Amino acid sequence: MEIKSRDLGRYKLEGALGEGADLEVFAATDTQTGASVVVKRPHPTLLSRGRHRSVERRMADTIAIKERLGLALPHVAPLLAHTAQEPHADYFGDGTDERYTVVVEARAAGVPLVGSAIDGIKRHPIGLPQNLFALHPVKAHPERGAFTIAGEVLAVAEVFHSQGVVLLDLRPQNVYFDPATAAITVIDVGNITLEREATGRHPALDMHDFYLELFKWYVPSGPPPQEARAYAEPYGMDSVTRFTSDLDALSRVFAMNFTDDMGSRAMPILEKIRSRLYATVGEFRLDLEEMMRGLSDEYLAYSGTASEQAWQEAARLMTAPHWSQFLFSPEDMAPYSEF
Ligand SMILES: Nc1ncnc2c1ncn2[C@@H]1O[C@H](COP(=O)(O)OP(=O)(O)O)[C@@H](O)[C@H]1O
Ligand SMILES: [Mg+2]
Repeated sequence: MEIKSRDLGRYKLEGALGEGADLEVFAATDTQTGASVVVKRPHPTLLSRGRHRSVERRMADTIAIKERLGLALPHVAPLLAHTAQEPHADYFGDGTDERYTVVVEARAAGVPLVGSAIDGIKRHPIGLPQNLFALHPVKAHPERGAFTIAGEVLAVAEVFHSQGVVLLDLRPQNVYFDPATAAITVIDVGNITLEREATGRHPALDMHDFYLELFKWYVPSGPPPQEARAYAEPYGMDSVTRFTSDLDALSRVFAMNFTDDMGSRAMPILEKIRSRLYATVGEFRLDLEEMMRGLSDEYLAYSGTASEQAWQEAARLMTAPHWSQFLFSPEDMAPYSEF
């Protein structure tokens, strides 16, 4: 729904929530419904230099695709309203007279799978949710089970692919997880690209690039940690994705860490990604689901071991005050407790 800047007053700003390279994000409350929302605009450092044109283009693409798909888009923070490109000095009270788009979305429940770089520098355990819930779910959610996250992230990319585009960069910083319900919410679908074939100038780009990213961030490449400390560190966050060398690195760690079932399930998938052999997303999904089912079975064996103790100890870190900046409270961990 397109609204006028003056109608943004309905969304009462409550302070900065986060920022990325592209956007500045505020927490806000919808005064008509009481709902928690977020208000996004191009980052002020871009606005102040008039350098927000490419961000505007990405915002427009995202708005168009979200409006077209509406409720058919699962696991993505719903778009509630957006403005045209116009000045918003009154709403933000900052005297910026640049014209730009403002987007209002539902605020995601739960915690980011990996927290912000700034929180990492402050030594908060920003990788905890990624390790506890995505990579090493030694304790499964009683109703949803373990290893559900990769499949849900894939479902998001699958819907975008049905619209003829490849959605990249669904990194754990862009995915929230609500431990109470074990549901994800993707908060950033700004990286939409068109498929292209390989030419002399550049390599191919298609869903296989996405599959590689899914492997990098959402599939464990070794057994669960034996020490709680190891859960704090985010995994797979290094630099940009480089197709061939990333696949080489992944194949190496899988070969090194798994001599058993997991290795024999993962390696053929990695090779099919490398050769870009998946004709449909459904074909990849079948392989992914079989691998994740195998992992779920393997993880049952950690019940009652030192690995489970390490998981429990790490899970207790989720009660720290740090996590209350999100729509999360320690009671949301109840499904994973002993009782
Ligand atoms: N819907 C949302 N719910 C909760 N937090 C959000 C939401 N959207 C964005 N954020 C916060 O704002 C930060 C930046 O938003 P994002 O859309 O990822 O911007 P960028 O495109 O610049 O990366 C996120 O990392 C997250 O912490
Ligand atoms: Mg982001």
